Amino acid sequence: MSEQTRVRADDPFGGRQPTIHEQRAGQPWDASYLDGPAPWDVGQPQPAVARLASEGAFSGTVLDAGCGTGDNALHIAALSVPVLGVDVAETALSIAGKRAAERGLDAEFVLADALGLDGLGQTFLTVLDCALFHVFRGRGAARVRGELGGRNRAWRALHLLCFGDAGTHIGPHPVAQRDLRGAFKPSSGWSTASIDPDRLLSRFAPQGMPAWRARIERV
Ligand SMILES: C[S@@+](CC[C@H](N)C(=O)[O-])C[C@H]1O[C@@H](n2cnc3c(N)ncnc32)[C@H](O)[C@@H]1O
Repeated sequence: MSEQTRVRADDPFGGRQPTIHEQRAGQPWDASYLDGPAPWDVGQPQPAVARLASEGAFSGTVLDAGCGTGDNALHIAALSVPVLGVDVAETALSIAGKRAAERGLDAEFVLADALGLDGLGQTFLTVLDCALFHVFRGRGAARVRGELGGRNRAWRALHLLCFGDAGTHIGPHPVAQRDLRGAFKPSSGWSTASIDPDRLLSRFAPQGMPAWRARIERV
């Protein structure tokens, strides 16, 4: 990994522009993992991801962007699909790496900013974004979209799960369906193959909160 994608340790935000979550919390993502499980760390893969996996949605090498403690990545790897998880939270990565080793799974977890993936030097056939996109707004959202799907990347499908704005008990940082569709415009080389309502579980909402599950492809 090049220095470009490494998160700098001498700055609490690693030289990054803090995400909405970090601005509200006043601390970097890693702090959420220090005192027990973070609210989104539900100790199992998100059911929406497990369903996608059972439908064969993940193939080739998979990039899990903002992988957290790796429950989704490890579930995919257990199906013999190699996964690289990247995150800016070292504590989460350490937990994920230990779990992969204990279970002997083909999953690697590295410290990298999803807004600067060029240095990874790998191509991916499938990308998973589970609850990462919705923590960015404006230029950040445009950058994460550009990084995950830059024209130099070979992936065929991006599976994106974010909190949605439709229904009751709306989660933090909800995204409107039209904004999600607008972020991946055909005129920019994207095709939103589908956007469907789904749920994202959290420790405070074990029954889940409204989410959008999008499949994005290249035009
Ligand atoms: C809401 S959590 C979701 C974690 C995991 N995908 C899951 O479903 O449990 C968002 C994750 O994105 C990570 N993250 C935030 N900004 C990031 C960035 N710029 N690059 C890589 N990871 C990032 C956070 O550290 C956190 O682990």
